[in-house]
Amino acid sequence: MRKKVYITTPIYYVNDIPHIGHAYTTIIADSLARYYRLTGYDTFFLTGTDEHGQKIEQSALSRGKSAKEYADEVSAKFKALWDDFEISYDYFIRTTDENHKKGAQKAFEVMLGNGDIYKGEYEGHYCVSCETFFTDSQLINNEYCPDCGRSTTLVKEESYFFRLSKYQDKLLEWYQNVDDCVMPKAKKNEVISFVKQGLRDLSITRTSFDWGIKLPASLNDSKHVLYVWLDALVNYISALGYGTDEKHIDFWPADFHLVGKDILRFHSIYWPAFLMSLGLDLPKHIAAHGWWTRNGEKMSKSKGNVVNPREVADTYGLESFRFFLLREVPFGQDGDFSQKALIDRINSDLGNELGNLLNRIIGMSGKYSNHELDSSNVLRFYAKEIDSVQEILNGVEGYMKELQTNKYLEELWKVLTIANQSITLHEPWAKIKEGKKDEALALIALVANILAKVSILFSPIMPKTAKAIGESLGFDISTAEYNRLIVKKELLKPTVLKVISPLFPRVETELMQTAQSTPALKEESKKEEGLINIDKFFASKIQIGTVIKAEAVEKSDRLLKLLVDIGEGSPRQIISGIKAYYKPEELSGTQVCVVTNLKPAKIMGLESYGMILSAQDENGLSLIRPEHLKKSGAIIK
Ligand code: MSP
Repeated sequence: MRKKVYITTPIYYVNDIPHIGHAYTTIIADSLARYYRLTGYDTFFLTGTDEHGQKIEQSALSRGKSAKEYADEVSAKFKALWDDFEISYDYFIRTTDENHKKGAQKAFEVMLGNGDIYKGEYEGHYCVSCETFFTDSQLINNEYCPDCGRSTTLVKEESYFFRLSKYQDKLLEWYQNVDDCVMPKAKKNEVISFVKQGLRDLSITRTSFDWGIKLPASLNDSKHVLYVWLDALVNYISALGYGTDEKHIDFWPADFHLVGKDILRFHSIYWPAFLMSLGLDLPKHIAAHGWWTRNGEKMSKSKGNVVNPREVADTYGLESFRFFLLREVPFGQDGDFSQKALIDRINSDLGNELGNLLNRIIGMSGKYSNHELDSSNVLRFYAKEIDSVQEILNGVEGYMKELQTNKYLEELWKVLTIANQSITLHEPWAKIKEGKKDEALALIALVANILAKVSILFSPIMPKTAKAIGESLGFDISTAEYNRLIVKKELLKPTVLKVISPLFPRVETELMQTAQSTPALKEESKKEEGLINIDKFFASKIQIGTVIKAEAVEKSDRLLKLLVDIGEGSPRQIISGIKAYYKPEELSGTQVCVVTNLKPAKIMGLESYGMILSAQDENGLSLIRPEHLKKSGAIIK
């Protein structure tokens, strides 16, 4: 039977440059794909970019670019990074690809045809940053997104809905029946309790902006675009040709959807429900990893502490970075990046335990056998060591398949410890002195074999290191060698060891400056000079105010004292420099736009609790007002 596996990363939003979180998911997925390829599976590994939606549209606008122009630019950055990192993806999908659009439209049509989509009106709150709808009761303080804490927007628009509620029981059945459908277990339990609280139908179209996939032409309803999460999730099948040529559709169902914990809900609730409606099989594993912090702190652009994966790889080496990410944290748990932790891993696990081992056998074999390596006496003298090695290696496969890469590597390093200890214990130099050259050379061969087996098994995580060790010890990283050395447990063929330079030279001090000062980031920030991100904009709270009363401030040519209702119960006093342009009596009852979260200020001895927005040119000053009457306190976005 054909052994096949389909592995995906999330598709990344193009409103941000790649950071350690993106690199982490992608590197786990890459390692898994390499592992399956090595062990003889036909592998399809998908990554790509998620390019539609209001968030991307706003990011593009704030940079004075069209959404497509901006998406092209950032998508190319992701692709370039993965190419430079030699990520072994089989396909890079963009949601702006025509084939993807067709796939998404087909999915909509099929769900509609099945009676799972109906038209209605959505009224609720939308978080643009999370691209997520929320009900009143989910909000924090009636306004803020429960996931990211940003302010939400009240949305009332015509919308198509997906009958998510219909799938509640079927989803619960699936979680119940398929043990590892959502991994790890703790996260699965969270999903189950969320679903048990009840699922509401899901709004799956938007009308208030354009940057999205249009509904299928057959609906003749051009004001709607698909909700970005429906659009995005379908990428996992459109990449296989769903809706077009179905070229790789036999890879479905996916074996592993790798995601961060923040997007597990979309993948473990919406996605399987959509698939049930489409009549397609469900993914085998949806696996959620934890969150990375830096030196114990949450990363954010404003703090300037976001870990730039390219910078880490350029400074410490990509192989070390890959090892660190996969060794440092148990899958599913949060992890902390610090240069100190990375350097410790490099110096101890990689330098001392792995690199030194190779150096030692290169040195000893050079001295005692002109680098000739022969395994024929290994079992005669060191059968016990080989047995212990084999026992550990027999048990590692499961760890990799369960994504417990830290355990997997830990076990492999136990095997390296056996090699290091046998050198200390058997002292080949002493054996040479005692005239037991056979034993000494067999010991060197034992260590070489251990290194070979371990390298083949860690090759998915550190492909270049494994390749270099293979070149030195006379084997290659291939399925054939995997079958020979790991499955059939054979030993290395006689060879002449090649001398290579030390693999992981010691790192003495932290090599990276603060994140902001690196050339790559400087370049980035130069391009963004003068631009602010949307969060900064929303740091100002601007609301509609209704002027209750206005009067001149005594002894001032400039100032008016206003009482403005912004829906708080009692009106605020605001002192504004508009006296030259407006008479107090013409302001009463009119609406203005007020920045309401400024620190109170004292102007000519009077407290002012806000600022009124106006625009001024050579013809004078005008207040900025809503086009139609709005409720006092309505938020301006
Ligand atoms: N576009 C959606 C995914 C759609 S998939 C059908 C999206 N994109 S994202 O770019 O915002 O995030 C992609 C991944 O990066 C998520 O899995 C998220 O968990 C991960 N990370 C973002 N910041 C992270 C950390 N600080 N640490 C670890 N991973 C984090 O969501």
